Amino acid sequence: MTTAATVWWQAGTIYQIYPRSFQDSNGDGIGDLAGIVGRLPYLRQLGVDAIWLSPIFPSPMADFGYDISDYIGIDPIFGTSADFDALVAAAHGHGLKIILDLVPNHTSDQHPWFIESRSSSDNPKRDWYIWRDPKPDGSAPTNWMSEFGGSAWQYDEATGQYYYHAFLDKQPDLNWRNPAVRDAIHEVMRFWMRRGVDGFRVDVIWHLIKDEEFRDNPTNPNFTAGRPPHEAFLALYSTDRPETLDVVSEMRRVVDEFDDRVLIGEVYLPVDRLVAYYGKDLSGAHLPFNFALLSAPWNAFSIRELIARYEAALPLGAWPNWVLGNHDRPRVASRVGTAQARVAAMLLLTLRGTPTLYYGDEIGMKQVPIAPDQVQDPLEKNVPGIGVGRDGCRTPMQWGGTEHAGFTTGEPWLPLDTDYLHQNAAALATDPHSILSLYVKLIDLRKRMPELVFGGYEPVDAAGDVLAYRRVYDGQMVLIALNLSGEPASLHVEAGEILLATGLDRYGENVSGQLDLRGNEGVLVKLRPQ
Ligand code: NOJ
Repeated sequence: MTTAATVWWQAGTIYQIYPRSFQDSNGDGIGDLAGIVGRLPYLRQLGVDAIWLSPIFPSPMADFGYDISDYIGIDPIFGTSADFDALVAAAHGHGLKIILDLVPNHTSDQHPWFIESRSSSDNPKRDWYIWRDPKPDGSAPTNWMSEFGGSAWQYDEATGQYYYHAFLDKQPDLNWRNPAVRDAIHEVMRFWMRRGVDGFRVDVIWHLIKDEEFRDNPTNPNFTAGRPPHEAFLALYSTDRPETLDVVSEMRRVVDEFDDRVLIGEVYLPVDRLVAYYGKDLSGAHLPFNFALLSAPWNAFSIRELIARYEAALPLGAWPNWVLGNHDRPRVASRVGTAQARVAAMLLLTLRGTPTLYYGDEIGMKQVPIAPDQVQDPLEKNVPGIGVGRDGCRTPMQWGGTEHAGFTTGEPWLPLDTDYLHQNAAALATDPHSILSLYVKLIDLRKRMPELVFGGYEPVDAAGDVLAYRRVYDGQMVLIALNLSGEPASLHVEAGEILLATGLDRYGENVSGQLDLRGNEGVLVKLRPQ
């Protein structure tokens, strides 16, 4: 029997790499696989256990790789198949797992499956995508909206039907009600697992099945101006259909054909629906991504509440997880500010559940302002001016203080923040008080203190804007106290010793009765056994 302690995706920390922006090795201004190989020693020093790569497959790059034209190749921009094998071997050599992005909801319109599907109404691949007749007045079959602006239906002159695309019109949705589609994607999964991949992060997994009757979505009574247009409707019939969970369980069965792999699902849903993706009797995703912290108001009350709601909603035996940043959302250091970014790091790495870090957050990278003529993101181009653009969180990794931060010898595909001169991995690695040093310490503590991984979560009362909790396991106890405000605060604690403070300056301090926190300070206290 596998014990909890041997399951890597429970005990470990996951690190997301956006390959275009991690490290360029050939001077074309875009990151690549050989570049990642060169940076594995950095990741090993950081202490993470697994890397998840955003898509690296052949793609016209209309959505920067989330529009795939060949599921089993490598886009030349990132390297070759041999480069991929070299990356897997090198990563495994460093003890790092590799998680790939699986994008099964849609392909590129340049995928041979779609080219065939659109070629005629009776093509054998026609039913691999979602084709519908116009309404009698010629308009789109339903009111479903694309997340990237406008109707989600694209009319195709050649055959007089519409096809459905939840994102760009260049990203037609596959028809997951068709067993041939399921089989084809399952084969893709097997292909990569045979190549040594340790699991998948599944793109928009809650989108896979759409309403069989194609009913219109209801309007959203809480829609407010300034929000993305698709939010004017509740995606009741276009996402999160009950049959989706069967599809997820099937994927899980494919993953389970191989030893020790992980299935992670991208799910943006309220917590009660999110946890459904663990599946009946945990037959679904091992980790449906928990994005609650990405949009939480940054105060102790709301974060305490959301942790409590999540913990209470988890099915028996389900393993929790937490995410602080990704390639779709504003950088945490800009959302909560530089000082609170350290507190956020301590939160992420001391909560109960697998933490996923987004590249660059460990060096405090900020959301980079992008001038209108530098915009790359199709979402910002289609839905401009309301702050949904994702380029600012996808800028090149800031490795050093040299030109282009050591990311490339060419012209970087997105601009760098001028702060890279000091806010870079090389400089921060030599500063024992830097945010990078804090991340290294937190990840290391998580490895050395089983209570941080396997311990229960116990909220602790604290006044003001302080979030406090204990993690308790096998007679061992740590207390984490996070001051989410800039004002000093204090709370009652049992006797113990400080193992880590966000300023990396209170190691070994004894506390008893009262713990004083500076503004924006987080502290981890090893409590003495009672
Ligand atoms: C979710 C991905 O995270 C995002 O980057 C992408 O644009 C959409 N899915 C469409 O694939």
